[in-house]
Amino acid sequence: MWKSPSSSSLNISFFIIHLFQLVSIMNQHVVIVSSQPLYTNSRWIVKSTTGQRVKLACVNWVSHMDVMLAEGLNQQPVDAISKAIINMGFNCVRLTWPLFLFTNDSLGSITVRQSFKNLGLFSSIVGLQANNPSIVDLSVLDAYKAVVASLAKNNVMIILDNHISKPGWCCSRFDGNGFFGDEYFDPHLWIQGLRIVATTFKATTNVVGMSLRNELRGPLQNVDDWYRYMQKGAEAVHAANPDVLIILSGLSFDKDLSFLQQRPVNLTFSGKLVFEIHRYGFTDGDTWSAENANQACGEVLNDMVSKGAFVLEQGYPLFVSEFGVDQRGTNVNDNRYFNCFLGLAAELDFDWALWTLVGSYYWRDGIVGLNEYYGVLDWNWLHIRNSSFLQRISSIRTPFQGPGYTETHPHKVIFHPMTGLCVQRTSLLQPLELGPCSEAEAWGYAPAKTLTVVGTYFCLKADKLGQPVKLSMICSDDSSRWDIISDSKMHLSSKLQDATSVCLDVDPNNVIVTQACKCLSTNDTTCDPGSQWFKIIDSTRVTKITKSFLQIKPIIHFLARNFFGSYI
Ligand SMILES: *[C@@H]1O[C@H](CO)[C@@H](O)[C@H](O)[C@H]1NC(C)=O
Ligand SMILES: *[C@@H]1O[C@H](CO)[C@@H](O)[C@H](O)[C@H]1NC(C)=O
Ligand SMILES: *[C@@H]1O[C@H](CO)[C@@H](O)[C@H](O)[C@H]1NC(C)=O
Ligand SMILES: *[C@@H]1O[C@H](CO)[C@@H](O)[C@H](O)[C@H]1NC(C)=O
Repeated sequence: MWKSPSSSSLNISFFIIHLFQLVSIMNQHVVIVSSQPLYTNSRWIVKSTTGQRVKLACVNWVSHMDVMLAEGLNQQPVDAISKAIINMGFNCVRLTWPLFLFTNDSLGSITVRQSFKNLGLFSSIVGLQANNPSIVDLSVLDAYKAVVASLAKNNVMIILDNHISKPGWCCSRFDGNGFFGDEYFDPHLWIQGLRIVATTFKATTNVVGMSLRNELRGPLQNVDDWYRYMQKGAEAVHAANPDVLIILSGLSFDKDLSFLQQRPVNLTFSGKLVFEIHRYGFTDGDTWSAENANQACGEVLNDMVSKGAFVLEQGYPLFVSEFGVDQRGTNVNDNRYFNCFLGLAAELDFDWALWTLVGSYYWRDGIVGLNEYYGVLDWNWLHIRNSSFLQRISSIRTPFQGPGYTETHPHKVIFHPMTGLCVQRTSLLQPLELGPCSEAEAWGYAPAKTLTVVGTYFCLKADKLGQPVKLSMICSDDSSRWDIISDSKMHLSSKLQDATSVCLDVDPNNVIVTQACKCLSTNDTTCDPGSQWFKIIDSTRVTKITKSFLQIKPIIHFLARNFFGSYI
């Protein structure tokens, strides 16, 4: 597609514009089509053919409820939903399934229509008939296959997630579906079900992974049985289909994989194993709103890393297969959690699946058409619930690093989770501001804690309270030293000339300024430091275009600086 320019009259500005267009196209329309197996290379999920990283940017689609049908098919045609998933920027779906759908013939063989009739959901049948006439009279089992086929046809990758045994909302400690040996959780039936599902979808190459069981939990949970049965389940899936990633969930509602630090999983195959964890605001109760937000963030991130994300260091991919927020933006607990969570997601560059696609459920908690405020689609499954939320998570959609993405030397980008944007420099004379991470400025973060624009002598410098930060060539004073402070380790702090401590912040125009540091005292529980939370993250991506310009013409910067003052 991209033809290298051959004209000798090519000038630099043409080159810059063209490259800019190319990069924005690459970054805005990344749809990773996968019709080939994926495997793992250390902590990365990669394509079998090229070895290039594929970052799973999935959304959860609920299909394990009482009706045993993927949600939303009364509202929109299945293909329209599949297309919407791609158009919203996801490349993958974690599609849930209840075990008994595949192991109990009398359940799997009833028609969709009958399943809805049994629950008295007559108005849903009208919607199903109108939107999905080819599905409404299929068996629920064939309807599941039809949904998988639609996703595959529309180039969506699929992770099949065994969410529960008995169809219904998940999960509680005492619902009989929590751990091997519970009322509805016979390990042998579960292994049989895994084998059936792996075999059924063996020919569907878009099915790239299977997560073997969601959120293990409850009074029976124990580490020995986890190894015993998870290893058996993994071997069963691998024997039936050696081309799917095998994804294992932790204990305590998929919060805890810490036992892997002492004892590795022992399997006969390699290059296929991925671990998953879940984290929501409510995972930690009301910690986020009741405690100081910096403290809460520090505690939760420590917990996430020590109980889950450490697997990256062990050389396994981490799939954070559930996270999400009330997208109305009114839940303080959720909002603080998400500012913190998104920083870690960018820093660790892990694979993920957002909860949830679902705009509304056929029937949940006894309510017909329950609105799902965590859903990216609105109640009618037609409109996006909150486009600014989608925009924000688009920052973690494309890889910052990994095989096939080492386009430049390792450098840093400065990420701002509250907006999902990165620090960028639009022109020589403008102050630094926030912009898409695909156009982020590349920084070095030196041991002396200076933040230097890569390829130049310019460093970031605090100037005045409430005023834009500057770029300067005098980089040895306290105003150009940036410490990472607070319990959250997400404030970047420096000093003004008069020794006042300040923190990097963002003004209403998205300009990067310094302000008094917020919420540092742990007894301060009402304030929200979100605007001052940044993450310095590793990247090897080609980002800001003027960077090449800068490297070609450092002299222009020098001149500009001397003629136009100290902005640059
Ligand atoms: C299969 O499901 C039906 C309907 O819920 C139930 O009555 C039956 O006991 C189940 N069979 C098995 C073997 O679990
Ligand atoms: C791993 O499993 C194999 C059999 O599947 C067994 O022979 C071997 O001893 C096990 N290794 C460890 C370290 O448990
Ligand atoms: C979208 O979310 C933001 C906060 O993330 C909130 O301020 C805004 O009101 C939300 N918009 C809608 C339409 O709910
Ligand atoms: C918070 O703690 C500081 C000392 O760490 C104390 O000076 C201050 O009075 C406390 N504020 C409140 C509201 O308790």
